[in-house]
Amino acid sequence: PMQRTLVLLKPDAVRRGLVGAILSRFEQRGLRIVALEQRVIDGAQADRHYAEHVERDFYPPLRDFVTSGPLVALVLEGDSAIEVVRGINGATDGRKAAPGTIRGDLSLSNRENLVHGSDSPESAEREIAIWFPGL
Ligand code: CMP
Repeated sequence: PMQRTLVLLKPDAVRRGLVGAILSRFEQRGLRIVALEQRVIDGAQADRHYAEHVERDFYPPLRDFVTSGPLVALVLEGDSAIEVVRGINGATDGRKAAPGTIRGDLSLSNRENLVHGSDSPESAEREIAIWFPGL
């Protein structure tokens, strides 16, 4: 099915100069960029995005990380875009992600793992409304 998904290129991707290289992977796969913006977010926006994680032990440093500098938020569209993007991103922990994936090629961290992609149609709808309320 045709789907939209919310993707973040996290502050490590911007700091490392990997925005173009990462966007290329999504575009080369055939996904279409519907919206894209570089932003610096505050803690409240991080809490909205990561609502299901705010009570977890790993959340405080994650919150510091995602508010530490500019990130790039985008919406991608395509056939089965949610699952396809998660495949391109690779496993959450860069140390365990398969070669050929963004994280498996470019990250060695469980936190600074370069990208976020919505994990379900319900998450995609919720996250797109948070980041791009006009869409
Ligand atoms: P993301 O796909 O954005 O979803 C939740 C984020 O929390 C995840 O990517 C990582 O950046 C971070 N994360 C998840 N699990 C851990 C963990 N065990 N330790 C540190 N960070 C984590």
